[in-house]
Amino acid sequence: MSPDILVAGAGIIGTSIAWRLAQAGLRVCLLDAGKAGGEASWAGAGMLAPGGEVEDRSDWAEFALESRRLYPAFVAELAAESGCPIDFKELGAVEVAFAEAEWRALAERARKQAVLGVSSRCLSPVELRERVPLLGRETAGALWFPDDALVDPRQVMRALTACCRGRGVEIREGVRVTYFTLSPREALLETSAGPLTAGAAVLAAGAWSGEIPVRVNGAERPIPESFPVRGHLLGYLLDPGSLGPILRHGQTYLLQRANGLTIAGTSSEQVGFDRRLDRGIVRDIARRACELLPRLRAAGEPQPWLGFRPATAGLHPEIRRIEGAPLWLAYGHYRNGILLAPATAQRVSRQIIASSETDSQATAGTV
Ligand code: GLY
Repeated sequence: MSPDILVAGAGIIGTSIAWRLAQAGLRVCLLDAGKAGGEASWAGAGMLAPGGEVEDRSDWAEFALESRRLYPAFVAELAAESGCPIDFKELGAVEVAFAEAEWRALAERARKQAVLGVSSRCLSPVELRERVPLLGRETAGALWFPDDALVDPRQVMRALTACCRGRGVEIREGVRVTYFTLSPREALLETSAGPLTAGAAVLAAGAWSGEIPVRVNGAERPIPESFPVRGHLLGYLLDPGSLGPILRHGQTYLLQRANGLTIAGTSSEQVGFDRRLDRGIVRDIARRACELLPRLRAAGEPQPWLGFRPATAGLHPEIRRIEGAPLWLAYGHYRNGILLAPATAQRVSRQIIASSETDSQATAGTV
């Protein structure tokens, strides 16, 4: 029997959507070209940090704040339903400036953020020492973002796949979608495992989404391009609890998991899907991270990895229905896929459920 919904892409976005749809009683099949949660959702540091990511007023900024608000309930529900632990901490973030000009820019950003509802306040040198005793340098100023948080995305993925399986979602790994052919009431997906059909489909294949052609009622329909923005991360082992809040300086950030794994980021490269670690970039992140937190120098060689942030031309996510067709786009979450998963899943699943109810009412009306 065909599923009600086919979801292309089993990262945190596609899997969260599949979970919400399955909770509503729909039959869902989740496809991934590789492994579920094997790309950006595996690589992500897990910052839930509008304080570091949101600056100007936009739909996506509001959406990010909404998703941050949803996170505690999202994680609690996932952990309760799956029985899987999730390392989620609302520890806030400290952002520091070392030069006066940097501090003025940071303070100006904070003023703009306050208008959007991202709160922050200045820390005195004593407060800064209390919050980040391991900080390595004198600062020109520091801000405290109380609402920033962090989560372990790999644990979120483990819980999500367990919840999906528990609710009968079929998860098919190693199945690549190569074409969407849509008519008003049917989605036909050509895949590496043959054609599959459903009443509707979701395209949530991260940086790979834009390369899948879409045909609606026999005509090609362009969808927004997507492309990868590669980022490197390093993992160090420190004593658990030795770094409290997220620590940021410019493009450098540090955060610590409950088990002491301390993650340092990051870089940004547009080099396509090149999976080779760049040793120069790794050294540069290590240098920046050790300057912030000298304790890292004694933590041994860091473990590096990289991932592909899914970007679109506007660097904002595409979350919407394709006009006149049962296909929803949910990609382009760029630096914030982990943060935006709860709100994306809520929005897309509600729209799909509402449209399937409208369809069944229309069908009943015509009988
Ligand atoms: N969310 C942080 C990053 O993409 O590096």
